[in-house]
Amino acid sequence: MVDEADSGYSEEETGRLELIWGEGFLSPGGPEEVARILGGYDIAGRDVLDVGSGAGGADIAFVRDHGAGTVVGVDVQEGFVNLATQRAVTAGLGDRITYRVIDPGPLPFDDASFDVVFSKDAIIHVQEKEALYTEAFRVLRPGGRLLVGDWLRGDGDAVTPQVDAFVEAAGHGFAMVSLRDVEAIIDRAGFDNIELQDRRSWYLGEATAELERLCGEMRPKFVERWGEDAAQAEIEFWEVLVASLSTGALSPGHVRARKPAAAEVLALAHEALAGC
Ligand SMILES: C[S@@+](CC[C@H](N)C(=O)[O-])C[C@H]1O[C@@H](n2cnc3c(N)ncnc32)[C@H](O)[C@@H]1O
Repeated sequence: MVDEADSGYSEEETGRLELIWGEGFLSPGGPEEVARILGGYDIAGRDVLDVGSGAGGADIAFVRDHGAGTVVGVDVQEGFVNLATQRAVTAGLGDRITYRVIDPGPLPFDDASFDVVFSKDAIIHVQEKEALYTEAFRVLRPGGRLLVGDWLRGDGDAVTPQVDAFVEAAGHGFAMVSLRDVEAIIDRAGFDNIELQDRRSWYLGEATAELERLCGEMRPKFVERWGEDAAQAEIEFWEVLVASLSTGALSPGHVRARKPAAAEVLALAHEALAGC
């Protein structure tokens, strides 16, 4: 099993990704894509947990753009927790946004601690997805929401060689499952009102534009900061990324679901008991 903490992001990779995706973001789409993952769910005044919070861009957006009450970000990399904390403080939001280093495994929070469990492009790193989604269910309050964007694989064996090639090229020991796999996992964890959204064609368009920028206007900046070889290696990785999106091997998606409200759980339990 890959230990997520050992397959982390170097300072250089973080810098390269932030140059492409914007400060605070180690994933595509910026605050607009964060808003699309929320899918219109109103998080104003709510307590949000961000799993795999990275450099913290989404967390600032939660408070500034969506009026979140509090945000707790958790990440396995201490460097990210320090960086994101510093940025939240600099933004004047240190009283609303806090971070914690975690180990992969059980979340260090009491049952029913949050209204929203959010995650963007981080659960791809998590080997034990069933356990993580069960933990997300546990720490949510009844009626709370799971709001996730993730890099997923296409369905079926036909794309497996391309999925393996993508995972190899990315070099983070990704554990990739499909949108349908996530649906089955969160259904087993107890969530209802499950909504799935395929984001492949959106990201194919974005990644193609990112590749054009890497080969064009961004290239001199890359070369200046990290050298010619690093610029070329990034372009080659982005070519694999675009190819993986084209074949459907890489097929990002959004998942929204609800932890049933307490009254509904009680009604179900009564129903089950009545059948005994
Ligand atoms: C691609 S980055 C995304 C970061 C951020 N969510 C974003 O969209 O910019 C993935 C993040 O997940 C973190 N991560 C990896 N394994 C994890 C785990 N088991 N639990 C929590 N975070 C994890 C990494 O350290 C990294 O910060």
